[in-house]
Amino acid sequence: MKRENKPYSRPFAEPDPSLDRVDGHLKVTGAAPYSAEYRFENLTHAVLINSTIARGRITAIEAKPAEAAPGVLAVISHLNSPGVPGYGTPKKPAERAPVGTAFRVFFDELVYFSGQPVALVVAESVEQAHYAASLVRITYEAEPHQTDFEANQSRAVLPGGVQRNAASPFRDYHRGSSDALQTAEVRLEASYTIPTQHHQPLEPHAILAVWEADDKLTVYDKNQGVKSAQGNLAQAFKLPREKVRVQAPFIGGAFGSGIRVWPHTVAAALAAKLLKRPVKLVLGRDQMFTSVGYRPYTVQKFALGASKDGKLIAMNHEGIGQTSRYEDHLERTILATRAMYACPNVSTRYRLLPLDVNTPTWMRGPGDATGMFALESALDELAFSLHLDPLEFRLRNYAETDPERNLPWSAKSLKECYRMGAEAFGWQNRPLKPGTIQKDGQLVGYGMASSLYGFHRHPSKARAVLQADGSVVVQSATMDIGPGTGTAMTRIIAKILGVSPQKIRFDLGDSALPDAPGQNGSATITSVGSAVHVACEALKKKLIALASSLPSSPLAHIPSEAVSARNGRIFLTANPSASLAYTDILAHHNLTEVDVTEESKPGPERDQYSMYSFGCHFVEVHVSPVTGEVRVKRVVTCADVGKIINEKTARSQSIGGIVGGIGMALMEASVMDHRYGRYVTSDFASYHIPVQADMPQIEVFYIDQPDVYANPIGAKGLGEIAIVGVAAAIANAVFHATGKRIRDLPITPDKVL
Ligand code: MOS
Repeated sequence: MKRENKPYSRPFAEPDPSLDRVDGHLKVTGAAPYSAEYRFENLTHAVLINSTIARGRITAIEAKPAEAAPGVLAVISHLNSPGVPGYGTPKKPAERAPVGTAFRVFFDELVYFSGQPVALVVAESVEQAHYAASLVRITYEAEPHQTDFEANQSRAVLPGGVQRNAASPFRDYHRGSSDALQTAEVRLEASYTIPTQHHQPLEPHAILAVWEADDKLTVYDKNQGVKSAQGNLAQAFKLPREKVRVQAPFIGGAFGSGIRVWPHTVAAALAAKLLKRPVKLVLGRDQMFTSVGYRPYTVQKFALGASKDGKLIAMNHEGIGQTSRYEDHLERTILATRAMYACPNVSTRYRLLPLDVNTPTWMRGPGDATGMFALESALDELAFSLHLDPLEFRLRNYAETDPERNLPWSAKSLKECYRMGAEAFGWQNRPLKPGTIQKDGQLVGYGMASSLYGFHRHPSKARAVLQADGSVVVQSATMDIGPGTGTAMTRIIAKILGVSPQKIRFDLGDSALPDAPGQNGSATITSVGSAVHVACEALKKKLIALASSLPSSPLAHIPSEAVSARNGRIFLTANPSASLAYTDILAHHNLTEVDVTEESKPGPERDQYSMYSFGCHFVEVHVSPVTGEVRVKRVVTCADVGKIINEKTARSQSIGGIVGGIGMALMEASVMDHRYGRYVTSDFASYHIPVQADMPQIEVFYIDQPDVYANPIGAKGLGEIAIVGVAAAIANAVFHATGKRIRDLPITPDKVL
């Protein structure tokens, strides 16, 4: 194994306390505008009408009464839509297409799922639009639909796109011998089910679309990537990219629902173009169930075996995920199984089941949260059969190198995570036998699970500007869907330039800013953080050069390595009294500002090292033997995600992931009435998410050591690994409390009793 790749120099440790959110004040005072809150004169309001059948055709749309209603400006459907010319390939939606070839709104009379947008009513007020929408009569010719995953499972297929792509990670995978499983002394076969779960950010998806003339579109849209939304809309309306501007500086949560541009976004932009007036469209909570994707219903079959001394011999993992009839949605469901443990014989198989539903999408920890629920539950089951402590079982199968790619890890301190977590939790006191601890009439259980999440880094740019008053502005078209991107970036900027955070502004969420990836795949800090790092280093260098060229400069002719920055000044590290303020450097040169734009991108390190974030969760649950109610009482989580940039916002990310994991484990399930192929869960009364009263005591620990091969800042992704494994740790704790193994999420009282 090669290790010639040069590591990035170790980022220096610094003692400053964490920063509070730089936009916290704006958010809590309501001064931060969300997409639906921008004001425009002449604004119009749109309401989507959704199909009531799951499959078939529209035979008629009676729009006249709606068109005659007060304030109504238009009723748009496939009957009068000029079409969105360039969206996707020139295929009908019915022809199966890979992800990214989006559903074309108001394209023809065909209905692919219940809740499909079939018409849009635009009026002077939102009330008028809602009333008029109630007057539109749509008749359908329904065809028999299939929405029931369990009943149709045998129709699952290897997607055509995967079959055609020899390099696809979703192809069937084998290592070692395929009949090794039979030789294992202890074996387990089990099937695990994840129901459909919908992202439910408090802010619903919303768009405000404004055209100038016929060829310049500006949208204020809730999404996770202004640059990709810009590209998608430019393609949809056949415009050059620079004619489309997407702004999304504040997002009220998304969890993956905003990675793509959805039909409602295109519909609103289309209406604004037709009416030549700004159009605002806000999805209702019920429409969040059919308009923006979801975590797909997934069934996983595991067969695994170990030797009596607790060594994994073989694992066979099959995952079948739900998708729509018109698109393939793939996720990492089976991939973690190949890399997580040192198991010599592994087979994985991935299939998709197309149903008459809308296309799923990525939801926090996509694939890995699903796959690791099954893998970490299965390991717990096997440990029980082996009479082995579940943590000990994992340690006996610890992968010191990546068993899939046969490469060294760039960094992996999972053993240290296990040790820290177990100690903080008090794991050593856990009895092996389930159902043995009781407290106040409740059954008490302790469970744990490992977590991992892949490392992603994309090319990113950042512009850094020092202004004459000594303040710094850094800009990048990145996003903040909630983690506190601007705060973490401010921390990076402050550290390099030696400027107080109060004098720093970080601009994001605008497609006019320097190119950056959207916020997904836990890649923002690794990608954009690196760009901000290199841009600030370049700016500092430029300032040092300017300082050294000044006549009688105390910093004349010195190399930049000899210089440090603090309190808005640069100084000779060896002699801090030789210093210059940034403001003086600019003043002496008669400059109003100094700016640089830099790009940072990954190198060959990904071919030489295997890179993941790792972690583990320890959970205590209390289960009522009378009602079957499960309450999570305590969670200790420990993660190795490289260097932590800002501890406070990082911690809040980890807590958020645990909250999501509690929802996944105990509450969240979108329930469909298959007679109609329609969700009956359509609000927060029927779709439950954890609230404050459900919150356990949560302790978060980080290894906080830079991964020097990952990027110049040594940080890896945190947002998604925070949820991965949580549901398994809870299910394992429920088993430990009750002796009952629940393999179908969510763990509701009916299953516990
Ligand atoms: Mo995340 S599901 O990549 O927003």
